Amino acid sequence: MTDERSARRLHRVAVIPGDGIGVETTEAALAVLTAATGRWGFELELERFPWGCDHYVAKGRMMPADALDRLDRFEAIMLGAIGRSDVPDAVSIWELIMPIRRRFDQFVNVRPIRRIGGVRSPLADRLAAAVDLVVVRENTEGEYSDIGGVLRQPSDDEVCLQVAGFSRTGCERVARYAFRLATERRGRVVSATKSNGLPHSMPFWDAAVRAVAAEFPAVELRSVHVDALAAAFVLEPAEFDVVVASNLFGDILSEIGAAVVGGIGLGSSANLDPTGRHPSMFEPIHGSAPDIAGRGVANPIGQIWSVAMMLRHLGEVDAADAVMASVEAVLRSGEALTPDLGGSARTAEVTAAVVERLALKGAAAAPVEMVAAGGRG
Ligand code: NAI
Ligand code: MG
Repeated sequence: MTDERSARRLHRVAVIPGDGIGVETTEAALAVLTAATGRWGFELELERFPWGCDHYVAKGRMMPADALDRLDRFEAIMLGAIGRSDVPDAVSIWELIMPIRRRFDQFVNVRPIRRIGGVRSPLADRLAAAVDLVVVRENTEGEYSDIGGVLRQPSDDEVCLQVAGFSRTGCERVARYAFRLATERRGRVVSATKSNGLPHSMPFWDAAVRAVAAEFPAVELRSVHVDALAAAFVLEPAEFDVVVASNLFGDILSEIGAAVVGGIGLGSSANLDPTGRHPSMFEPIHGSAPDIAGRGVANPIGQIWSVAMMLRHLGEVDAADAVMASVEAVLRSGEALTPDLGGSARTAEVTAAVVERLALKGAAAAPVEMVAAGGRG
């Protein structure tokens, strides 16, 4: 093509910084994204949405009524974190994150867990050094359900029901994603079960996973009870390749995994609709961390890592590799580590170090188009 601009690829990304440190880590991730833009032949149009608990307190809703329709027009969504102490978590999560994951059928939650040198693990080095696993978590059903209620309330005799729902399609499609991923990795899948304690849902899950396993004869499958698996994540984390788990089990296992490789601030995740019909969403695994919010010391690496996952998802593989290489170089050098990693660097210093490494890699940068959405929230 003769026109250089038309040869560039344009991606539209919605940005929801959210609450607490989500705002801070989103700023950091956007700085890295901005530094990558233009250098690898793509441009971004970012639109910011001021949705979350502040919006709830001001307007009585976490996001506007047409929020999902607006988000559907984007290729991807970047999310910081949601949660504020004066808003019930059941409201903040169920009126923002869950509707996005479900409406956009983001049925896979991919959470990579990899030890990067330079970061201290709470485990002996011998155990932690070779950790490189991916938790593939079911993301739209299972134990995370809003079906239920409390009977005979209020009384001494009240009864609470929280109904989990597992569909055959839901179990099989996430298992299939995990097996496909394993064929590109070391060919091993471990499935988290608890068929002894949950005698309906987990045998159902196990049967669906086994049925999918039959489609992938080259991939080895092991089913392990989730309690034993939790211990194994600590005792022999390097043994795992791909771990497929239901919504709740995957959430818990991935946080143990993140802790093992250095801390929750390093954890990244992709909420994927692998069919590509809807936007996928990229977020760190941590929450809004009210205990450190506003102090400028949040670890931005989890969210920057999720930006690398987003770039890969958008097809910008070279830029994704460059972001990850920059993150790894900064961590390995130990030059800028936040307090949760045993250092004393601030969020902005870590971000600047990653941006500086990235700047060494690309050619000329192009501006990012930023459309403010504040007035329309
Ligand atoms: P949390 O992940 O916010 O914090 C747990 C601990 O890890 C805290 O001590 C915090 O300071 C630390 N931490 C987390 N991220 C960090 C980072 N990037 N750098 C340094 N330290 C970090 O989980 P918590 O305390 O259970 O929940 C706080 C709020 O966040 C609640 O309202 C909860 O509902 C919400 N939440 C939101 C999520 C989301 O938006 N996807 C996920 C998990 C929790
Ligand atoms: Mg979690």
